[in-house]
Amino acid sequence: MLPASVKSDFPILSRTVNGKPLVYLDNAATTQKPTAVLDASRHYYEHLNSNIHRGTHYLARAATEAHEQARLTIANHLNAATPDEVIFTSGCTDSINLVSNILHLEPGDEILISTLEHHSNIVPWQMLAQRSGAKIVVIPCLEEGTLDPVAFHNLLSAKTRIMALTWVSNAFGTIVPVEDMIARAKQNGTLVLIDAAQALPHMAVDVRKLGADFITFSGHKIYAPTGIGILWGRLDLLQQLPPWRGGGEMIKEVTFQVTTYNDPPFKYEAGTPNIEGAIALAAAIEYVDGIGIGEIHSHESSLIQAAADALKGISGIRLFGPAHRIGAISFAIDGIHHYDLGTLIDQMGVAVRTGHHCCQPLMARFGITGTTRASFALYNTLEDVEALVSAIKKAKLLLS
Ligand code: ALA
Repeated sequence: MLPASVKSDFPILSRTVNGKPLVYLDNAATTQKPTAVLDASRHYYEHLNSNIHRGTHYLARAATEAHEQARLTIANHLNAATPDEVIFTSGCTDSINLVSNILHLEPGDEILISTLEHHSNIVPWQMLAQRSGAKIVVIPCLEEGTLDPVAFHNLLSAKTRIMALTWVSNAFGTIVPVEDMIARAKQNGTLVLIDAAQALPHMAVDVRKLGADFITFSGHKIYAPTGIGILWGRLDLLQQLPPWRGGGEMIKEVTFQVTTYNDPPFKYEAGTPNIEGAIALAAAIEYVDGIGIGEIHSHESSLIQAAADALKGISGIRLFGPAHRIGAISFAIDGIHHYDLGTLIDQMGVAVRTGHHCCQPLMARFGITGTTRASFALYNTLEDVEALVSAIKKAKLLLS
């Protein structure tokens, strides 16, 4: 387990909520920020603030250098072949929208997704399908909250142009065996996008080992601010594919007749970017690397196992997802609405998310409107798990 002292790296965690010490278990929605990240944001605005790639003055050069250093830090964390494969976006949703807008599909082409997807990995593909005449094909989810491997095998076909899968379910914490699925899809000549929003904070992501074509994630799920995210893409693909948004920075030369485009990553970064966000994201990645993603993974695995064991002892509870999960644990209690449960335990200082978790098709698959979800980060402790379970038991007594 990580030492409980890591909590003191996160100033917000010392506050009280509703007169009770804050027990923050809504990390799959967003994580809290350590002092190292807050300091990086503040340092940027106090010492470096300027537009990048545009000016010759001192601050413009210093800000550009810090921004490109941030790209390098992130590329190294991902084991990318070159920082040119790392595109700054506003978040995972933006990254998926970018890819879905640069691919050209034809009527009859298929887009393979799964029942576990977040709306952000469904809706952009539906929009692409509507524009192009392509078809969405969905890998079903088994009762235990894992994907059906036989159905996957049968659904991947010569028509499958792109497979877009979440690595870790934000709703259930299911870890999808993406390595094998990517290998199969690549043998099939299918492009692959992996939504790593809920994987990156909890496990090592090595883009070269993984073999996907695109990987997306959000900074705010890994202790960085909101409004910054990453699209990693294979360089040769980024070179071949067209740009999406037009504007400054993404060009080499503009006339009223024609524009030649910049090389990746700049080809995909039109407009002034979130410079402070990129620098703060690199600070967050450095913070995580300083602790060690392996240590974080085993710490969080122990917490989630302890939570599962304790929750199973509550009568009338139904846990969703497989026994081996990461990040989040989702549950429902007979006769109690998830909203009432979440509201009552919030009064006890325990923050969880309730509802459909932006996964309405997954909820429909299980015949429910939502769940209560506790989700974990590196600063959570066994005491937080005990506070969660005790708050749920109290709320259950009040609501039954
Ligand atoms: N995707 C975020 C969640 O799961 C918002 O809560």
